[in-house]
Parts: sequence; C-alpha cells; structure tokens
Amino acid sequence: MDESITITDNRTGETAEIPLLDGTVSAKAWSNLLPGIWFDDPSFSATSGADSDITYLDGAQGLLRYRGYPIEQLAETTSFLEVAHLLVRGHLPDGPQLKQWQSEIGEAAPIHENFHKRILEGFRDDAHAMGVLVSTIAAMSTFWPESKDVENPEQRQAEIVRLIAKMPTVAASAYRRNVGLPYVFPDPELDYTSNFLSMMFKTGDSPYVVDPVLHDAMDMLFVLHADHEQNCSTTTARVVGSAHADPYVTISSAAAALYGPRHGGANEAVLRMLENIGNHRNVDDFITGVKAGDQKLMGFGHRVYKNYDPRARIVKDAAHRVFEVTGTNPLLDIALKLEEVALNDSYFIDRSLYPNVDFYSGLIYQSMGFPVEMFTVLFAIGRTPGWLAHWDEMLSQNSRIARPRQRYTGPADRDVPSIDVR
Ligand code: ACO
Repeated sequence: MDESITITDNRTGETAEIPLLDGTVSAKAWSNLLPGIWFDDPSFSATSGADSDITYLDGAQGLLRYRGYPIEQLAETTSFLEVAHLLVRGHLPDGPQLKQWQSEIGEAAPIHENFHKRILEGFRDDAHAMGVLVSTIAAMSTFWPESKDVENPEQRQAEIVRLIAKMPTVAASAYRRNVGLPYVFPDPELDYTSNFLSMMFKTGDSPYVVDPVLHDAMDMLFVLHADHEQNCSTTTARVVGSAHADPYVTISSAAAALYGPRHGGANEAVLRMLENIGNHRNVDDFITGVKAGDQKLMGFGHRVYKNYDPRARIVKDAAHRVFEVTGTNPLLDIALKLEEVALNDSYFIDRSLYPNVDFYSGLIYQSMGFPVEMFTVLFAIGRTPGWLAHWDEMLSQNSRIARPRQRYTGPADRDVPSIDVR
C-alpha cells in the first residue's frame, strides 16, 4: 500500500492527500492546499533540501555511507583520492582511472605566483590560517573567469579538479607564510597526502620522508571528513551555488561556514578546551560547569547523530596508532576522562550526546606537528570533494535558486516621522 498523509484545513474543511516518499512529504503538494502558509523551521531540522545520491547517514543507528559504501570499509581500504573520485565522479576508480585521476590532480596542484607574492603576503603575520584559506579560495574566482559557466558539466569537472588539487597547496602555503618558512612547491611525483605533508613540513633540499603510519592516518582523516550529506557548510555551498555563483566563491562560502566552532571549528575548540582543563583531575568540575550551562563540551553532540558518531570511533583507534609513533599526547588522558564521565552522566545520556568526529582528531593533528590554527584547514581539505560533489549534483538537477520564506515579526505599517520627532 502506498503511504500518504491526509491534511485538513479546519478553516474550510478541505482535505488533501499527500504521498509519503522515503520519509518526506512534498512541500509543494502541501502548499497547493495551503497557499501562503509556510513551515516554521529556522534551522532546517525538519526540512529536506535535496534529493541526493551521494551520502547516506542514519543518525539513530550511527551509520555513514558514501555512495553505498560503509565509512569503515572506505577508511580501512581506500585512499583519499579514490574516495574523492567516488564522490565527484560517482564511482570508485579502477587502476588506470586512478592513475589518470592522480596525474590530473598532480598537474593542477601549483598555484599562480601572485598567490604567493601578492595575496598571501598581504595578510597580517598572525592571520588565522582559516581566514587566509577562505579569502584565498574566493580570490581564485578572479583567476579562472571561465569557471562562471556553471551550467556546463565539463567546465564544472575542470573546476572540481582544480579545487581538489590546489587546496593542499594553498593550505600549506598559508601555514608556511605564517611561520616565516619559504614556500614548498607541489611535487607531482608524490601522492596527494605525501605531497601535502611535504609542502607543510619539508626543510632544506632533501626530500621530506613521512612515516607511513602518520601518512596513512592523515589520508584516512581526509577520507572520514570527505562528505557528510546536508551539513551546515554543504548546505551553504548548495545555497550559494543555487544562485549560479562560480565554484570558487561557492566553496569559499562553504569553508567560511566550516570555520565556525559549532561546525568544523570544533576541532580547534576541543584542543583549546583540553588545554584549559589542564589536568584529568579537573574534569569533574568542568563537567559540572557544562551541566550548569557555563560552556559546551566541545566535540560532543550532533544535529543528526543520536548515537556514537562512527567516524569518532575510527579516529579514536587511529589516535592510538599515531601515538605509538609520536609518543602519547598529554591531553589524551583528559579527553578519555571527559568521554568516560560524559557517557555515564544522565545529562549527556538523556540528550543523546556522544563524541563527534572532532573530539579526537585534534589530538592526532597536534601530535603530527600541526598548529591548532591549521586543524579546521585540514577538515576543509578533506571536505572539498564533498562540497563539490553536492554543488555538481545540484546544478545537474536543474535546481531553482534557494529562497526560503519568513514569519514577519516586525512593526505593522506606519508613517515615517520627520527627523525632529524621532
Ligand atoms: N555540550 C553540552 N550540552 C550540549 C552540547 C554540548 N556539546 N550539545 C548539545 N547540548 C545540549 C543543548 O544545550 C540542549 O540542551 P537543552 O535541551 O537542555 O536545551 C540539548 O543538548 C540539545 O542540543 P541542541 O542545541 O538542540 O543541538 P543542535 O542539534 O542544535 O546542535 C551542535 C548540534 C551544534 C553540534 C551542538 O551539539 C554543539 O554545539 N556541540 C559542540 C560543538 C561541536 O562539537 N560541533 C561539531 C559538530 S560535528 C561537525 O560539525 C563536524
């Protein structure tokens, strides 16, 4: 039997039957009966904004799949570039396709000299790396005006390659400028993650040799961050892209949303929180403050997951592998104690608050030598294929411009008073 919902307008007695499709009802069918009546849903918690083939997420069960593949299998067996191909091209690459994809990305990795000489040099010495990243991606819009042809699928694919390829180059350059080190140019002989780590940490003329455990952890963290369906930054990309803005300003706006501490900026906020707590003996007092509403437990809670975030479990395991190479992170004890206390406390149990992906990732980044200001930048590199996959999918669906309604709560009609009586 087809599922449906019947609604009645009690003012007129009219009814309408609306089909239920995959747990959603069409707002258009609804408003045929109720024109001029809007859904009041400011944070879009109960609104589906897209039909999407990309990512499946079940927050109650703690499931995450990219194009049907469980995140646990992808994290274990595939590289970030394979996952990026899966997201933006729709399928995992075979051997020759992967080779071709790696060389396309490798060739597109360098950035125009003006980025180094003019744009990056223009920032204050202490500029936050995320501020630099957001502005620099937006500046790319002025370098490739042909990217404005957003209705052309081939042009979109060309811009997708450029953005995935250049993101690590811009990110590493932002870091090196900040610490006063000379820029390192991309090396097309290196794989994506080795190349990024080399551009970040290489000193002198000898090649940068990365420990395989650290390389694999970094690559896997990119995989875990690659997509998360209609999160705040992806929704931003879809909204900005729906106006047919070019992909650079679109992805820049997504990165700006990610910067916020309620979203990707939480990984930086977690580290600062752990440093402020200072010692695992202070955890109980800190949790008392959280329950009193003094502060949030950063890295906990999620709009959609009401169970353990599957990515957090994978990150926690990876942290132990990384610490075997780097030595343990002294903040780990505080994080473990926080998790233990929170998971056994009725405040967190009643609200279904569990660690999210950001709770343990910062500890790994810090142990690998990344400064705290780079944490959200690392998230942005990982999330870029996801943003782009959604942008491309939206434009391939002949989408309309995003334009919600509002409930007006301001003054009624009134006359403008003259300046002497205001
Ligand atoms: N610490 C303490 N209490 C919390 C937390 C937290 N981290 N998160 C939610 N709560 C409480 C809320 O205060 C609220 O309590 P109440 O019912 O007594 O008012 C209840 O749990 C429900 O929370 P909401 O605010 O409705 O949750 P929402 O879905 O709007 O927010 C969010 C989700 C923004 C992630 C929130 O949990 C949060 O701020 N967490 C900390 C920041 C963080 O880790 N963000 C990263 C998210 S993952 C990502 O974006 C990559």
